[in-house]
Amino acid sequence: MNRVISPVHSLNGSVQAPPDKSIAQRAALFSLLTDKESVICNYPQAADPQTALLCIKSLGAKIARRNGNLIITGTGRAGLPKNAGTIDCGNSGTTMRLLAGILAGSGTGAILTGDTSLSKRTMKRIIDPLRKMGAEIRAAEGDVAPLQFLPGNPLTGIDFELPVASAQLKSCILLAGLFTDATTVIETVPSRNHTEKMLNLRTEQKAGGLWIHTSRDHPVPVLDITIPGDFSSAAFWLVAGAIYPGSKIVVKGTGLNNTRSGALEILKRMGADITIENEFTTGSEPIGDLRVVSSALKPTIIQPEEIPNCIDELPVLAVAMAFADGVSVFRGAAELRHKECDRIDAVARLLRSAGVAVTEFDDGLEIHGNPGLIPKPALFNSYHDHRIAMASAIIAGRGSKESAIEHAEAVNVSYAEFWNHFDKLAGRG
Ligand code: S3P
Repeated sequence: MNRVISPVHSLNGSVQAPPDKSIAQRAALFSLLTDKESVICNYPQAADPQTALLCIKSLGAKIARRNGNLIITGTGRAGLPKNAGTIDCGNSGTTMRLLAGILAGSGTGAILTGDTSLSKRTMKRIIDPLRKMGAEIRAAEGDVAPLQFLPGNPLTGIDFELPVASAQLKSCILLAGLFTDATTVIETVPSRNHTEKMLNLRTEQKAGGLWIHTSRDHPVPVLDITIPGDFSSAAFWLVAGAIYPGSKIVVKGTGLNNTRSGALEILKRMGADITIENEFTTGSEPIGDLRVVSSALKPTIIQPEEIPNCIDELPVLAVAMAFADGVSVFRGAAELRHKECDRIDAVARLLRSAGVAVTEFDDGLEIHGNPGLIPKPALFNSYHDHRIAMASAIIAGRGSKESAIEHAEAVNVSYAEFWNHFDKLAGRG
């Protein structure tokens, strides 16, 4: 589906951030690991979290609705089936990689498949350590899905230092570790910490990094959780509010976990006028309303160590950089090439289509910003990637002529209400 984007004057009003898909998918998968009832409030309708529900259902979880909440009764670690057939992870890298840890740990025979995009993403990073722990896994050529897990024996615990700052890899090994005598994951560069927080895992800060411990003796907590608003989705409005003159947007109920919210600091140092209001904590996650008012932006350099903390926000941060008064750069982001599409290439193309000068590196971009930029009209290709579709929409609406976004339905992966919210804020709702 193509979505036509007409020029937008300013964006005004408030929207509720959609529920966080990272936390929601974990809530579903972790609920499978206990045979007690987990209660999940504010579970998202978006495609990836719905995929996670279908996956746990095919492994034996019972899912019901009560008073608007999702009630999940899992199988417990010991109750997982010996064979589960084919399980479709759709577009979701998080579901595939975390589920891989559970299947390897429980010795469940299964085949994990994904859509065209997910079937191109490397699974080598999880396959290698899982095999080291004793799992028998067959992958398609190039270490991609379909991934076949052979029914297996108990895994051996490992001490595993993460070779790449990836919360999906970290979580995969921690979940497999829940079926071992003892497993430790050592994280030298922090990545999102939802898994260790939600599973209440023991952590130790040491000189070389964070040591996270897991074992079969660790009790899996029974969840009673409200899914916070998704900071990564809110980031689109933070950038839009900053770059559309005369805008004032409030994004309500946004998760502010400090392993996720790096884009907030980056936008603030670029001169974005963002304030946090009505802060509170639910479970272990801080939440607040984010108010953004349009302002002039300065260029910035995002350092490699900042990348894991803003990895999903880089496409829309690049749009902000296009309106800054000078040259901005981010490097150390080679991981972006392994997302739902090659996001370095996709962002370079989207900015060039809009008339922005960009230099592409293996691991980042140099963006020549211009506060007077009037984006050229274009047919923006989303590459079926939700974040590229939304970043394209934000730049396109700032133009003076109509543009269109190809495969605009990609937003449903994380933010099904995106187009409604855009219309509402633009006064067209
Ligand atoms: C995610 C972790 C990140 C992120 C992805 C969701 C998660 O990926 O890009 O959208 O839920 O753990 P990596 O951990 O592979 O960097």
